Amino acid sequence: MIHLETRRSELELSDVLNNRFSPRAFSAREVAEQELELVLEAARWAPSSMNEQPWRFVVTRRGGDAHARLLETLNPSNRTWADKAPVLILAMVHRTLSRNGQVNHHARHDLGLATAHLTAQATALGMGVHILGGFNAEAARAAFKVPEELDIVSVLVLGFPGDADQLPDNLRERESRRSVRHPLSELVRYESY
Ligand SMILES: Cc1cc2nc3c(=O)[nH]c(=O)nc-3n(C[C@H](O)[C@H](O)[C@H](O)COP(=O)(O)O)c2cc1C
Repeated sequence: MIHLETRRSELELSDVLNNRFSPRAFSAREVAEQELELVLEAARWAPSSMNEQPWRFVVTRRGGDAHARLLETLNPSNRTWADKAPVLILAMVHRTLSRNGQVNHHARHDLGLATAHLTAQATALGMGVHILGGFNAEAARAAFKVPEELDIVSVLVLGFPGDADQLPDNLRERESRRSVRHPLSELVRYESY
């Protein structure tokens, strides 16, 4: 019997933050169109430098050819479990500013914010998101004809968390353990570094 620690912070963080984790076990439950639209809408409303909204997403659903092509770009260690998730999303950013073509130094920062919004909304709906950097971005560029002006940053694995028993031995036990964090005292200084 796996004991699941759900709440993580000892402080009264909002549930969508405190209950979030990066699942590897996904249930067979489909993500409804409305649910998918809501998590994407959450990303849409993220703040961004100069309201540039540089994020772009390619959404693929399990069973379709696009999902299979995106899955193919994942590192094998990620593919072994991500293949069960009903939705895979390729996350990208425009690296230049639409107003003047200069480099947008905050583009990836803003994609991170949009992804955080998406993840919080997904958590509120009972879903989980596992963000992946372990994939071949150039293979994804070719597979999805992504223009050069976009940086390909991550793959978002989205679905409802499932039973850890479906995972291989090395991941099953890990699924029940929640990751830890540095103490605030290590992250925050007051008044001066
Ligand atoms: C940009 C980024 C890339 C990541 N890449 C991977 C990955 O390739 N494979 C993986 O299993 N987890 C990946 N993760 C998940 C992290 O390992 C995870 O968020 C971290 O260990 C904290 O655990 P938690 O999300 O459950 O709190 C990635 C997370 C982020 C934000």
